[in-house]
Amino acid sequence: AQVVQADFVKSSVRTEDCPSDGLPEFALVGRSNVGKSSLLNSLVRRKRLALTSKKPGKTQCINHFRVNDSWYLVDLPGYGYASAPQELRTDWGKFTRDYFVNRSTLVSVFLLIDASIPAKKIDLEYASWLGQNQIPMTLIFTKCDKRKKKKNGGKRPEENVSDFQELICGFFQSVPPWIMTSSVTNQGRDEILLHMAQLRNY
Ligand code: GTP
Ligand code: MG
Repeated sequence: AQVVQADFVKSSVRTEDCPSDGLPEFALVGRSNVGKSSLLNSLVRRKRLALTSKKPGKTQCINHFRVNDSWYLVDLPGYGYASAPQELRTDWGKFTRDYFVNRSTLVSVFLLIDASIPAKKIDLEYASWLGQNQIPMTLIFTKCDKRKKKKNGGKRPEENVSDFQELICGFFQSVPPWIMTSSVTNQGRDEILLHMAQLRNY
């Protein structure tokens, strides 16, 4: 399931403009700054294929990256970027929702959750929206390399993960598949690639 080739293909702002070759794809979604672009780089073993930043709001379009000439990883803008104007935030909602609902080659959404901080309401709302719309989802917990800090609630990543899973049980019959990751140590990389390979061949 390893990546031998990865190429940036295009940036789109509308679902209609996305590649039309019918290859299966996986979308990385989550709050701004959760580590979507960093995870993509970790998966394809490249430092700067997808651009990352300390400042939230770096990724602004639907970005398609073709892997091994046979499937796509899709980097999306983050949600919940507090300083974005309200207008921009509703636009984000509209354009990504349209993508989730109408993109027929989308195999599964990978919803990224920051494991270094306590569960956020907006993440639970997103998970529940995806669930209600029957969009297949995998939970990816990011930043699992980070140590617990008082200012971040004083819990270890493992504890934040189990808290989140407990909360999500309020919305789902069972917890969706989930993987703990770090783009710093590359924890979870092989597990994600294997999971994606299994999903492509179901
Ligand atoms: P937007 O494009 O703004 O939505 O953000 P994003 O989700 O793509 O986040 P990005 O990959 O740009 O990473 C945001 C910040 O978090 C950067 O400073 C990264 O270096 C850092 N970061 C990402 N993943 C990890 C991780 O696994 N561990 C640690 N310690 N830091 C990480
Ligand atoms: Mg990004």
